[in-house]
Amino acid sequence: MKKFSFIPLAVALSLAACSSEPSATKSVASTVAEDALQMIVYKSPTCGCCGAWVEHVEDSGVKVEVSHPDDLNAVKAKYKVPQDHGSCHTAVTAEGDVFEGHVPYKFIAQFMADRPEGAFGLAVPAMPIGTPGMEMGEKFSPYEVRLLMKDGSTKTYAKVSSAAEQF
Ligand code: CU
Ligand code: CU
Repeated sequence: MKKFSFIPLAVALSLAACSSEPSATKSVASTVAEDALQMIVYKSPTCGCCGAWVEHVEDSGVKVEVSHPDDLNAVKAKYKVPQDHGSCHTAVTAEGDVFEGHVPYKFIAQFMADRPEGAFGLAVPAMPIGTPGMEMGEKFSPYEVRLLMKDGSTKTYAKVSSAAEQF
């Protein structure tokens, strides 16, 4: 069970790092097209990297509404995000698709255009360095985008080995 105790710890540590750099979130919603993808992003009010990810998807044309619930874990449970796939924020589209964590918009668009059978969303567990909103200079940690399946399982959706592959 080592695997299952490790990841939540990583998330907790990352969240601590994340909370220490609050930044104002700006909205560019007014510039978004009528038929834009719409999502609610559930996050902590003090999460700087969450705000940076919101800017990333807004810049990509997504219409975002931000919500700051008291219990983010309850949100993740409600939207069936597996515990070992959790990250700092949870995005839910108007259609009910779920994008957990720092998922690059490129993969969200791919998913929306061609939803794999039985899938309801994507997750980037924890907070890999170098993902949109988690930029730290040139640093980059390779990671997987995971496919969230309605039966509770997950599988590899994409392997990302360089920052450039995210755009
Ligand atoms: Cu984050
Ligand atoms: Cu976040």
